[in-house]
Amino acid sequence: MMTAPLRTREPTIVPVELGNRTYEIAIGRGVLGELSTRIAALRPGSRTIIVTDETVATHHLATAEAALAAASIPTSTVVIPPGEASKSWEKFETVCEAIIAARIERNDLVVALGGGVIGDLAGFAASVVRRGLDYVQVPTTLLAQVDSSVGGKTAINSRHGKNLVGMFHQPILVLADTALLDTLPARDFRAGYAEVAKFGLLGDAGFFAWLESNWQDVFAGGPAREHAIAIACRGKAGIVARDERETGERALLNLGHTFGHAFEAAAGFSDRLLHGEAVALGIVCAFEFSASLGLLSQAEAERAIGHLAAVGLPTHIRQVSNMHVSVDMLMDLIGQDKKVKRGKLTFILARGIGQSFIANDVDPAQVRTFLTQKLES
Ligand SMILES: NC(=O)c1ccc[n+]([C@@H]2O[C@H](COP(=O)([O-])OP(=O)(O)OC[C@H]3O[C@@H](n4cnc5c(N)ncnc54)[C@H](O)[C@@H]3O)[C@@H](O)[C@H]2O)c1
Ligand SMILES: [Zn+2]
Repeated sequence: MMTAPLRTREPTIVPVELGNRTYEIAIGRGVLGELSTRIAALRPGSRTIIVTDETVATHHLATAEAALAAASIPTSTVVIPPGEASKSWEKFETVCEAIIAARIERNDLVVALGGGVIGDLAGFAASVVRRGLDYVQVPTTLLAQVDSSVGGKTAINSRHGKNLVGMFHQPILVLADTALLDTLPARDFRAGYAEVAKFGLLGDAGFFAWLESNWQDVFAGGPAREHAIAIACRGKAGIVARDERETGERALLNLGHTFGHAFEAAAGFSDRLLHGEAVALGIVCAFEFSASLGLLSQAEAERAIGHLAAVGLPTHIRQVSNMHVSVDMLMDLIGQDKKVKRGKLTFILARGIGQSFIANDVDPAQVRTFLTQKLES
């Protein structure tokens, strides 16, 4: 008997339309197997360097290396420790120096094999080494497949806050192999799901309703998972094509992120609170704050929050162990976030599920009142 084929269906292709920088997101089980043929087609004769983390390396590096070796594409590898702490100046230097040492030049490629941390770090390094190298995203977490690998935002963290040093630098290809998610711990999958739900909540009520009925199949894998990833990618690709540099609409993708980044910073960017978990808490705050401002009904806010709770995401800071936050601390962190203009705060608020909008003139006093009630509740 022959073994079952790795891939059962053709991959779903989602284009990111950016003129002569247009690229494809290929989504499907086993699509990593196409890495070499796609690289050979896009950049014939190129060398590559794979940037990955220790955990991803143990699971998937051999597969990626074998795929490149089979097509005689020269490759080297740089492996860094897993975790948000690697989006640092120190690891940025490590990756840049490794790319230079591997003699990666203008026609060559950096391959980011990992979650959002690796994608952001490797993409940023690619954007500056030799004044800009092309790179390929091979996202290995749900969060990276639906969000961070698409759209060209790259960054490392500053001691002053998250993602404060970075570039817009689009990849030339994204390969989202859903089979890679089989090794992802349940907690990381769930955290990534917060960003999937975000796409429904910010602008696609139909998708949110579909998730309410089908989330268990998304978690189980199979066609529902691929469908959810494709819909989220299509949503993000559309927004990025219309507003690449975030002068408008793209800010909607920050739904839950202003509150969320404050929680993440309060947790010291540690494993106590993963990015996606912080986003879930942030979305809860955005919907409750919107309801408190009379923008949408309490029932609608509860529906949004209820879904996050149903999948097991945290919906109250109390559920996070060893988290001690005060209103002053959160207000400080929110004030440090980059979306502050002339004493007013920018938040993504909601008039309903699928009806988020950019509010540029939020009074900090209202946020303080809301957070005071929230922490006491
Ligand atoms: N650039 C953007 O537009 C954008 C958007 C959203 C989030 N982000 C960034 O993404 C980061 C979070 O990304 P993340 O949640 O993917 O975190 P991550 O990269 O740290 O991955 C989470 C954990 O899963 C492990 N892992 C990754 N793939 C695995 C696999 N297939 N099997 C087993 N383990 C695996 C990693 O080693 C890590 O420990 C944050 O830094 C956030 O700021 C960026
Ligand atoms: Zn996010």
